[in-house]
Amino acid sequence: MSYFSHPTAVIDEGCEIGECTKIWHFSHIMPNCKIGKGCNIGQNVVISPEVILGNNVKVQNNVSLYTGVTCDDDVFLGPSCVFTNVINPRSAVNRRSQYAKTHVGKGATIGANATIVCGHGIGAYAFIGAGAVITKDVPPYALMIGNPARQSGWMSEYGHKLIFDNNGKATCPESNEQYTLVNGVVVKQ
Ligand SMILES: CC(C)(COP(=O)(O)OP(=O)(O)OC[C@H]1O[C@@H](n2cnc3c(N)ncnc32)[C@H](O)[C@@H]1OP(=O)(O)O)[C@@H](O)C(=O)NCCC(=O)NCCS
Repeated sequence: MSYFSHPTAVIDEGCEIGECTKIWHFSHIMPNCKIGKGCNIGQNVVISPEVILGNNVKVQNNVSLYTGVTCDDDVFLGPSCVFTNVINPRSAVNRRSQYAKTHVGKGATIGANATIVCGHGIGAYAFIGAGAVITKDVPPYALMIGNPARQSGWMSEYGHKLIFDNNGKATCPESNEQYTLVNGVVVKQ
């Protein structure tokens, strides 16, 4: 087996798990999940049936990923962040056929304790602040904070705020990569 799972982890049948992925204490991967290479699944994580994670996805402790969630490569899910898959749950009403989808784009970060209300996509390299409650689609590179979450700026792929000049240009202070902002859309040069 080319991945590691702690003896207390439970991995159900039909899962595909990529090489060098690590699955830590008391986590449960339910049937038919696809988890890419080099992922780190922390402690007390539940991944529901048929969830798909790309390569190098980091899932911190106490995260539940429900059916309908998909994450592209390099996504970071902060500790105890919360996904949802039913918009109007009632214990006495079966809504299993109505699970909403939530897609998290490449390189996006979801901060500790943030909640993603289902049916909203998180764009590539978006950054969701700790404790934010996402109730709308999030554009690529957007920095979102608060409840309900509002966009407070833009973040680079290295996780620094992008300050755009009058020409719509910004440079990441760590990578020196350049970005442009045109009509509300950020593009890396
Ligand atoms: C959002 C974040 C990236 C910082 O954004 P920032 O805009 O650069 O933050 P600043 O420190 O400059 O603060 C700017 C303002 O936003 C507020 N703020 C910062 N983070 C906030 C958050 N998560 N939610 C609400 N408000 C926040 C600050 O209080 C400050 O408010 P003020 O202007 O009224 O004083 C950071 O606070 C954050 O939430 N990081 C995620 C950490 C995390 O979850 N890590 C998980 C791995 S352990």
